[in-house]
Amino acid sequence: MWEVHDFPVPADLAKTAHLDAAGYEKMYRESIENPEAFWAEHGKRIDWIKPYSKVKDVSYDASDLHIKWFHDGTLNAAANCLDRHLAERGDQVAIIWEGDDPKDDKKITYRELHRDVCKFSNALKDLGVKKGDRVTIYLPMIPEAAVAMLACARVGAVHSIVFGGFSPDALAGRIQDCDSNIVITADEGLRGGRTVPLKVNTDKALEDCPDCKTVVVVKRTGGSVNFVEGRDHWYHEICDAASDDCPPTEMGAEDPLFILYTSGSTGKPKGVLHTTGGYMVYASMTHQYVFDYRDGEIYWCTADVGWVTGHSYIIYGPLANGATTLMFEGVPNYPDFSRFWQVCDKHNVSIFYTAPTAIRALMREGDGPVKSTSRKSLRILGSVGEPINPEAWMWYHEVVGDKRCPIVDTWWQTETGGILITPLPGVTNLKPGSATLPFFGVEPIIVDGDNKVLEGATEGNLCIQDSWPGQMRTVYGDHERFIQTYFTTFPGRYFSGDGCRRDEDGYYWITGRVDDVINVSGHRMGTAEVESALVAHDKVAEAAVVGYPHDIKGQGIYAYVTLNAGLEPTEELRKELVTWVRKEIGPIASPDLIQWAPGLPKTRSGKIMRRILRKIAANEHDALGDTSTLAEPAVVDDLVENRMNK
Ligand code: PRX
Repeated sequence: MWEVHDFPVPADLAKTAHLDAAGYEKMYRESIENPEAFWAEHGKRIDWIKPYSKVKDVSYDASDLHIKWFHDGTLNAAANCLDRHLAERGDQVAIIWEGDDPKDDKKITYRELHRDVCKFSNALKDLGVKKGDRVTIYLPMIPEAAVAMLACARVGAVHSIVFGGFSPDALAGRIQDCDSNIVITADEGLRGGRTVPLKVNTDKALEDCPDCKTVVVVKRTGGSVNFVEGRDHWYHEICDAASDDCPPTEMGAEDPLFILYTSGSTGKPKGVLHTTGGYMVYASMTHQYVFDYRDGEIYWCTADVGWVTGHSYIIYGPLANGATTLMFEGVPNYPDFSRFWQVCDKHNVSIFYTAPTAIRALMREGDGPVKSTSRKSLRILGSVGEPINPEAWMWYHEVVGDKRCPIVDTWWQTETGGILITPLPGVTNLKPGSATLPFFGVEPIIVDGDNKVLEGATEGNLCIQDSWPGQMRTVYGDHERFIQTYFTTFPGRYFSGDGCRRDEDGYYWITGRVDDVINVSGHRMGTAEVESALVAHDKVAEAAVVGYPHDIKGQGIYAYVTLNAGLEPTEELRKELVTWVRKEIGPIASPDLIQWAPGLPKTRSGKIMRRILRKIAANEHDALGDTSTLAEPAVVDDLVENRMNK
């Protein structure tokens, strides 16, 4: 529908930008040639209690793998997000909260947020929370989620947020993995007019977590909940009773700030650990440069705080920069498909950051719901979480942004803490579908399967050559898994798990995961996790899960299921299995398609040939490749014949 073409920086934008292309190149070169000097300077952008004298101590050598930044400095992340702003902007709005119901909203100034965080910090201390303790947060998108994160940071506790869409089992697994003995939750969440039973889920999860002895409950909907005497505490009661004077705890730069679980190719989700100093420097710097944030602007990232985007670009980056950050409880299509743009108009949003899946879903509804709003406050649009197809990019640019707003397509990961490849507004010429060029301090490398560096225009596996301050430091409780996952496939580099193309202008085009991770609506899902949920069902003998192209979600979940001998596949059983996976993991893991498989294609040594299963799911039967090495080649014919239609 749209003619896809490149977008050189318009002259008026270039005039107001802080850098030009040559300025970017110069600064980028300095950051790569002399990272110590570069980061010594930019590390100063945040407040340190004790300034650092060391900048970088990194080894990617598997026998001694360590990553440290600014490591003799001390600071507090919450003080950087709150206290440092009080003198100059105490009365400026820090958080605009927009409820699920358009009639519900709230503005919280930096002074108010500081007071709320101090009170809750003291309440947490009264409950016995100490520096280094892991605190699980299972909350909806309400201001108390921000307060809880910052209160943990203030007292030196390590938060582990579990997305509110995850099931009791998934919550329990995460509580157990990080040995957390306290959960902060709400009575219920509210999304798209429907309630989410968070307290019920927490109660269920805690049946499997005997060491978790404290629950704090925020009253969101007022729905009736079970209350366990001695274990459960109302958030408002403990905060009311607490003092609002709570000095921030002095933390080492390399003390943990948070754990966030994310899916990988194998096994259970990993607890990605981020530390304090480097993460804060990187989150705040990228937020300022990538979104060209200017004082007084309203900035809105539509992510959930349960994902890394919410951590870095709703809370830590924007608040460290003294920005006004909008927090949205609802969904893009409630009460109607105009909601995002109505919120932009209502709160004068200048910078809007969302995921391609939302753009595609809204695009399908036509231009009407967009055009009925003004959106004149919008200045910059952002995209994150999955590759954005050029058509969706064009629609975002032409219809949402009225051809006026640059789009920053930001590539990064839970592991990277912040944005690594991205355009800078008013600086970088844009190509729809490309994340364009690396941020300062980031050296992307494309390698082939043998770790040979590919130069020039090429395609291969995306690695990052050296460390950047926002990088994850370890997998919580399993440093060996950290080394194995990211540093052994291509020794000496960080391997992202993504495939990537570099064009003749040096622009990067992310082509998607090259491992067994799928990206469903911008949510990362390990195929192994869905498989193990399926085989946990007593009628399932074996299962293999792959991604397939999906118009709205980017990728859908396609499951091949072999039933136990003697069982007849039925429509009812198909539905039962979908419900089962939702219960085991959460709605985001629901298989879109389940194909009954009498057998799975395996090598003679018993390894499932996922390449073939991916091709069948994608309807690329002609490209199945050599199937002669399979133990039972006939299995493939059956699968092709009975492929599920989308
Ligand atoms: O495959 C890449 C994709 O999302 C993965 C990271 O997922 P997660 O850790 O959940 O973090 C998502 C938000 C940062 C990556 O390995 N991805 C993320 N951003 C982009 C992307 N793929 C293409 N273009 C992007 N802009």
